[in-house]
Amino acid sequence: MLFLDDKAYQDTLKRQFNICVGENVFKMESLQPYRGSFAFAQPDKLGEFAQANHMRLRGHTLVWHSQNPWWLTHGHWTREEGLKIMEEHITTVMRHFKGKVYAWDVVNEAVSDAAPCDLRPDNIWFKAVGPDFVQKAFEYARRADPEAVLYYNDFGAEGASPKSDAVYKLVKDLKAKHLVDGVGWQSHFQAGWKADAGNVANAERLAKLGLQISITELDFPITMPSTAEKLAAQAESYRSMLRFCLSQPNIKAMVMWGFTDRSSWIPIFFKGQGDALIFDRDYKPKPAYFALEDVLMHSAPVHTSTKEPGREVP
Ligand code: G3I
Repeated sequence: MLFLDDKAYQDTLKRQFNICVGENVFKMESLQPYRGSFAFAQPDKLGEFAQANHMRLRGHTLVWHSQNPWWLTHGHWTREEGLKIMEEHITTVMRHFKGKVYAWDVVNEAVSDAAPCDLRPDNIWFKAVGPDFVQKAFEYARRADPEAVLYYNDFGAEGASPKSDAVYKLVKDLKAKHLVDGVGWQSHFQAGWKADAGNVANAERLAKLGLQISITELDFPITMPSTAEKLAAQAESYRSMLRFCLSQPNIKAMVMWGFTDRSSWIPIFFKGQGDALIFDRDYKPKPAYFALEDVLMHSAPVHTSTKEPGREVP
């Protein structure tokens, strides 16, 4: 984990941000590599770092179709076994981090991308438990830590789309049962992106349900090589996102998926794409950083409560 042995990384993180999140170490394959055997050493280090530097910590993620341990994905589970495994995992992990992790992505990416955007049928939890696995996960999470802010997190559901309608329907039902508090908009976009009427309408309808939103995995990759023009377009995308966040009272946090181009999932997953973040490989602020700074310098002071109306910004 880069975080553990790079002082410049740590220094930038603590100087510039007030929320952090583990990119991989809170996922089930890391946390429960063998059934019933939990590996907390790495996420604990992140927790200690967050606490020492007065940063909030997001937990990502408890129930997902990806990055699950081999023993889970290769087992044949009855519904009862699936529920037991889910409850044990959620309860053990959330109790361990009680008071340290303020918000959890309880369920990640349960909804399919293509219309009619039903739950993904290839999901191990869907296959083992059935379509109520999402509700069950939130029930266990609420019970494990009633103080934690519980999120449903997904991509492609940030604006107007069949997928965002499906996510809306899902969380409306969960909210009616007092099981969910917020929706995570991953926000993996492209440089050039601008907030539009679809984002506004989606934020407003979630606010009407009484749900908060966090931008949870923001990045704006560019097609390599970088040019001044592309970096300027990227800066405008970051500016647009932050302005949008500040204009919507139920948006509580804007979290990026990394902050330095030295370490990002983008070039690994998308050949020819990169430089998606606000610091370069040497931790020098990019035009995107100065665009965010400009917005913050010219905006009204913000509140920092997570459950009450207000906003948190980096
Ligand atoms: O840990 C192994 C290492 O032992 C091995 O040598 C190496 C060789 O490939 O792989 C390492 O695991 C990689 C892991 O990241 C840790 O670096 C996996 O191959 C790689 O697939 C995994 O990618 C992660 C990806 O989720 C998996 O889907 C990315 O780092 C992580 O940024 C990404 O994060 C997701 C969010 O959780 C959900 N939203 C989308 C986002 C981007 O895909």
